[in-house]
Amino acid sequence: KIVFLANPNNPTGTYVPFQEVRRLHAGLPKNVLLVLDAAYAEYVRRNDYEAGIELAGSSQNVVMTRTFSKIGLGGARIGWMYGPMHIVDAINRIRGPFNVNATAIEAGIADVRDRAHIERSVAQNETWLAWLSEQMTGLGLRVTPSVGNFLLIHFPDDGKHSAAAADDYLTQRGYILRRVSGYGFPNALRMTVGTEEANRGVVAALTTFLKS
Ligand SMILES: Cc1ncc(COP(=O)(O)O)c(C=O)c1O
Repeated sequence: KIVFLANPNNPTGTYVPFQEVRRLHAGLPKNVLLVLDAAYAEYVRRNDYEAGIELAGSSQNVVMTRTFSKIGLGGARIGWMYGPMHIVDAINRIRGPFNVNATAIEAGIADVRDRAHIERSVAQNETWLAWLSEQMTGLGLRVTPSVGNFLLIHFPDDGKHSAAAADDYLTQRGYILRRVSGYGFPNALRMTVGTEEANRGVVAALTTFLKS
């Protein structure tokens, strides 16, 4: 059996403080595997957050998974897992023989070595995530507080300004956000933090949309 925890979570951007993760782990039977999916770990700027490296390194039933897709290598299809040898060994036996290609591995190595690039992405995210949250709130839209590189924006229930209507409006103007009905949020859109131009463009478009 597996308990799978995306921390931070997608599409909410919320996180569980690591003390709580430890409590969860302490309460689990030893034969249950705890998977800590820390896809957005690079972006979290909270003292009470940990991706799970130490817990995975010191337990027999915890692994931490990471991806390169949020730090510059979206299409390369490469990620990694850290955990106890017996689990790594089992995964190694069931994985496809050529599941990650050599080019992606080289790109991944270059990516982790380029600390400056990751730091720039994180700094850009910190600035614009805060700015977007403020702007959306200013427009009267509720946002779920996010520690990731995206924001869950909730729309009014008045029909006219629903998430679906906003999505159509934005798409026509070249801004592609993500509908999240399938995650249980029929009236919200998830927006990934973008370039300054794109962020400002979405806020400007939503300002006109909400007045329409
Ligand atoms: C919580 C979470 N985990 C893992 C992933 C997987 O990333 P990828 O398949 O691009 O490596 C994503 C991507 O959206 C995610 O949101």
